[in-house]
Amino acid sequence: MRIRHYEIWKPINSGGTANVYLAIDLHDGRQVALKKLKNGMLENPVMREKFIEEANRYLYLNHPNIVKLKDFILEDKEGYLIMEFVDGVNLKNFVEQVGGLPAQNVGLFCMEVLAALAYAHKKEVLHLDIKPANIMLSEKNEIKLIDFGISSDAKKSKKEIMGSPFYMSPEQISGKNIDQRSDIYSVGVTIYELFTGSLPFQSSKTREELYEHIKSSEIPKVKMNFECDREYVNDVNEIITNCTAKNPDNRYQSCEALQYHMLKLIQ
Ligand SMILES: Nc1ncnc2c1ncn2[C@@H]1O[C@H](COP(=O)(O)OP(=O)(O)O)[C@@H](O)[C@H]1O
Ligand SMILES: [Mg+2]
Repeated sequence: MRIRHYEIWKPINSGGTANVYLAIDLHDGRQVALKKLKNGMLENPVMREKFIEEANRYLYLNHPNIVKLKDFILEDKEGYLIMEFVDGVNLKNFVEQVGGLPAQNVGLFCMEVLAALAYAHKKEVLHLDIKPANIMLSEKNEIKLIDFGISSDAKKSKKEIMGSPFYMSPEQISGKNIDQRSDIYSVGVTIYELFTGSLPFQSSKTREELYEHIKSSEIPKVKMNFECDREYVNDVNEIITNCTAKNPDNRYQSCEALQYHMLKLIQ
């Protein structure tokens, strides 16, 4: 199938809202990733606006750890984001294949994510959907942040509640005002998942029960996962705790503060 001068080759993966395909740009012969919202979604005015916002955010943000947008096609019923293709795997699938990662790897990957996020925050953009499935690891070991589908302007105060509740801060699931510290909370849950291979709150039967856990239960402590991680386990726990405090005032206040602490994991 061809969309303008992009020949779709094969599906790569899908997320909650979109299917992503590997395609060839027939103008230059290069591989691209083509993101298309699932059937009918573009007809929903909120989703349509979010899709346009996602394209604009990619154009606004220019960072080596953020995937680049090459083209944007918007028609009545269909829309496509044409992105740099990251030849690799998202960290959710990666951690599913290999189990929990050693602390040093978690540290190295998260430092790159935080470089992208610190840059986005400086430009007043909140990602709001930080999780392993939205972080790509390339064959060349590069880390690229993807999926600005629910990202927001930091100056806009209240937000609709969107995204994956497992990674959302208490204030995000409550529809309260949010800022960069909500992204920092989600980095904390991401660190937990990368280190342990599982989510801190996962056994809830209903969404309400999960929300209750997020609002009131402490994130469980991680245990040593590799022999060599014995000396790092306390640091990992301290970092997760300082990212995921219920009250944003008790978290790291910036990505830089978290990066500074995280250096301990990779030295
Ligand atoms: N630029 C890209 N290069 C390679 N794979 C990608 C790219 N963008 C997305 N993917 C893959 O597609 C999946 C879904 O993309 P994503 O943008 O997260 O969609 P959704 O908004 O539905 O969550 C990702 O988890 C990743 O595996
Ligand atoms: Mg996604």
